[in-house]
This record gives sequence, C-alpha cells and structure tokens, in this order.
Amino acid sequence: MSLKEELEQLRQRALHELKGLKDSSGLAELEVKYLGRKGELARGLKALQDVVAEERPRLGELANQVKREVEEAFATIKQKFGNGTPAPIDVTLPGIPPLRGHLHPVLAVQRELEELFRSMGFMVLDGPELESEFYNFEALNIPAWHPARDTQDTFYVKGGEPKNRWLLRTHTSPVQVRALQDYGAPIRAIVPGRVFRYEATDASHETTFWQMEGLVVDKDISVSHLIATMKALLTGIFKREVEVRLRPGYFPFVEPGFELDIKCLVCGGTGCSVCKHSGWVELLPCGLVHPKVLEYGGVNPKEYSGFAFGLGLSRLAMMRYKIDDIRLLLSGDLRFLEQF
Ligand code: PHE
Repeated sequence: MSLKEELEQLRQRALHELKGLKDSSGLAELEVKYLGRKGELARGLKALQDVVAEERPRLGELANQVKREVEEAFATIKQKFGNGTPAPIDVTLPGIPPLRGHLHPVLAVQRELEELFRSMGFMVLDGPELESEFYNFEALNIPAWHPARDTQDTFYVKGGEPKNRWLLRTHTSPVQVRALQDYGAPIRAIVPGRVFRYEATDASHETTFWQMEGLVVDKDISVSHLIATMKALLTGIFKREVEVRLRPGYFPFVEPGFELDIKCLVCGGTGCSVCKHSGWVELLPCGLVHPKVLEYGGVNPKEYSGFAFGLGLSRLAMMRYKIDDIRLLLSGDLRFLEQF
C-alpha cells in the first residue's frame, strides 16, 4: 500500500471510530491511538522520511491535512461529550440541603381542629369521596324530587344502580348517617374531608374544596350545645373573639337550621371579593339533626337528639391566613405555598 493510501485509510478509520463513540468512555484511548506521540499519525509522518524527494511535498501536505481533520474531529466530539476526565470532587464543599416540605394551609387548620375536637371527646372519622346518591342525598332527607339536589349539583360517575348512582360527594354530611350506622348513639365525631361541586369557579368557589362535618347525638342535645361548641371552635382557631351572626338557614337534614357567618377577616368587614362585598362570610351552616336522618342512621329520634355542622374548611383557612382567592389552594403554585 502506498503511503498516500495509508494516510487516506487512516483518516477514514479514525473518523469512523470516532463516530461510533456513544459517550466519552474510550475517547482518551482513541486519541492516544491516533494522535499520540507514538500514534498512527505520528508513524505516518515519520514514514514521509522514506519517500522519494519529489513526492514529499505533496504527501506532506496530505499528511498535514489528515492530521488537521482528525484533530478537528476530536475537538468537536470533546465539545459534545466533555473531555472524558471527570471533574475533581471537592469533598469539603457543603452538601445540598434536602428540601423539607410543610403542611398545606388547609391541612394545617384541619390538624389544629382535630386536636381541639379530640380534646372535647370527638372521634375523627373519614368517609368515601366517591359516594352513593343514597348517603349523599336520600338518607339526608333530600329525595330525588327535592329542589335541594339542584343546589348541590355534582359529578356523577358511571356505575351504581339506576336509583342509587355513584357521585363525588357534595358535602361531608353523608358521613353523619354512616357514622350513626357504624357507631350508634351517643356519638361525638368530626369528619374532615374533600368535597366536590359542579361549580363555576371564582374567588370564593371551587369545584374541589374541604369541609369538616361535626356531629353530636346524645340525650337532650339542644341549640345551646350547638352554639357553645361553635364558639369553642371559632376562638380555638382564631385565638380571639370573632364577630358572628346567626341566621335561619335551610338544609333538609337539620331542623331548625342556621347559617353562622363571621365578619370577614380578609377585609375586616368593609367588603371584598371573598365576602362578595357583604362584609360577612358564610362559614358554619348548622342545626339540629333531622329526625329522619337519625332514623336512617338507626337511632330512635324519640330517645336521642343531636346537632350537626358543616364547617367550610377551605374558607376557614382563607380567613385564617387572609387568602383572597380560593383557587390558589389547589393551584400547586409554590410561590403561594411557600408563604405558609
Ligand atoms: N352539608 C351542608 C353543605 O354542604 C352543610 C351543613 C352541614 C348544614 C351540617 C347543616 C348541618 O352545604
């Protein structure tokens, strides 16, 4: 083989082998093999000495050209992979501190309330988020024809029976009946949890939010027990007196029923988007448990009475931390979450 052919083959082999590299491993050896002091190119250049004088300039030029090309190819691939030498490790550098999470504002408020109610002898219960029409409506004295079903429209799920479909629960109240069935009377329980509504969202409405149900059933339970418990709840959570007002409120599963509103803590009562510019926020719908609900729960309404409330946990967290848009709670936005 002539030197010319040898040089051309060398170029091809070098470029071909370089192309075959997937990462920087093997790069250094390859560089030694071709460009090293005793490498193939060096040998080729050395062989120039042995060719006849008139061929030397032409072949010399070719040899230099091959060298340049191969060197360039190595330079390019090094840029792509790095040069294959790992960066030295400085073991004295401080480590990367692990990120530590914290409770979501709603969960923080929930935990505090659980503590408070446990101290008053309440159980903390759970219920299914995928609920049946029976527990969500029927057993709460909201039969299929009742207009109250429209005020809590929700997401129905395929399955269930024609008259007892599955749905995403619209409130935590279904657990009232479940709890009565499971534990009977007397009972003291709270039920924090996620609920869902088919809702046009705005600063104070979300399709997914948190409530906390409260249920007390015992002998001779009256509205005064209800009010005293509500007051304990509110001072416990706000650590100060908050202004409240009690209005009659209609819920088919309580009789009598009330709406307990608190003076808006975001604007102080002057009016803002959270309180819909009324200065008051609906926070605690409540009332005495309807006899029908007790019956569905297997409890004799002639023997027992009780009260129930449905605290808006998302709203309470908003009041507590002065959050002016409920949609922030589920936004997953760290700029928001990291403030708590
Ligand atoms: N479940 C009702 C709602 O979500 C609130 C409520 C609970 C009212 C308990 C009275 C008693 O609107």
